[in-house]
Amino acid sequence: MTAAAAVPAFPHQLMRRQEAAELMEACSALLELRLLQRLEQAQPRPMGLATGRTMEPLYAALVQRLQAWPATKLEALRAGWLSFNLDEYIGLPGADQASYRNYMDVQLGQPLGLSPAQVRLPDGSADNPRVAADAYGAEVAGSGGAGFQLLGLGSNGHVGFNEPPCDADARCRVVDLSPATRQQNAGFFGGDPERVPVQAITLGVKEILQAEEIHLVVTGVAKAAVLQRLLNEPPSVDLPASWLQRHPQVWIWADGAALS
Ligand code: GLP
Repeated sequence: MTAAAAVPAFPHQLMRRQEAAELMEACSALLELRLLQRLEQAQPRPMGLATGRTMEPLYAALVQRLQAWPATKLEALRAGWLSFNLDEYIGLPGADQASYRNYMDVQLGQPLGLSPAQVRLPDGSADNPRVAADAYGAEVAGSGGAGFQLLGLGSNGHVGFNEPPCDADARCRVVDLSPATRQQNAGFFGGDPERVPVQAITLGVKEILQAEEIHLVVTGVAKAAVLQRLLNEPPSVDLPASWLQRHPQVWIWADGAALS
């Protein structure tokens, strides 16, 4: 292999802003445009959404933009809304404050007036999570994949809850959460990693790669090391996000701290 061939053809688009707030403005403007375009489509694909701290200011910026739309347009957006989230903890009732169902209700559902049926997530409180994961994967695959897929990045390189090691063809399934991820997400559980559920349902890399366009959002110095790996390492099971290199339309949105 020549030296040139070894350079990864990734990212396809690096959207860099020094301050996180500027990044969220720019990213939310693009998402607003995609939602406007979606209104013009006869059979729009669903949206692929993510949770986590990174997404909170992004959703706030997006909600602010959408709430400024004329009432008729906003109503059309509402009527046609269908989104699938990446993942959900197993064993938390949807009403639990730390569930991703609750997160989505607070961040988007309530501010935009969307029903829970329009903002779909895996059913982490199902009696049989494996059956629930298969059903959710089939639903997403049956939709043809997301129009745009939002993604955050785990400190260990996970996307959704696809923990390393993870193959490129991993599908929607039940996963065990790593100690690193339980530690990373402890803030949503009173700071106690022991309270973070040990399992989750996540869309696999396979369903994520079905999206037309992928937007990976990475902010803060705590993500600098993993982002550096992502931008420089070839795809491997050790860095699940690296499988995104196989997708032709990936946008990486990163602030100065994450690129430091
Ligand atoms: C979490 C979630 C992901 C999220 C990522 C980054 O564990 N499963 O969906 O995008 O890790 O989280 P954060 O934005 O809080 O750093």
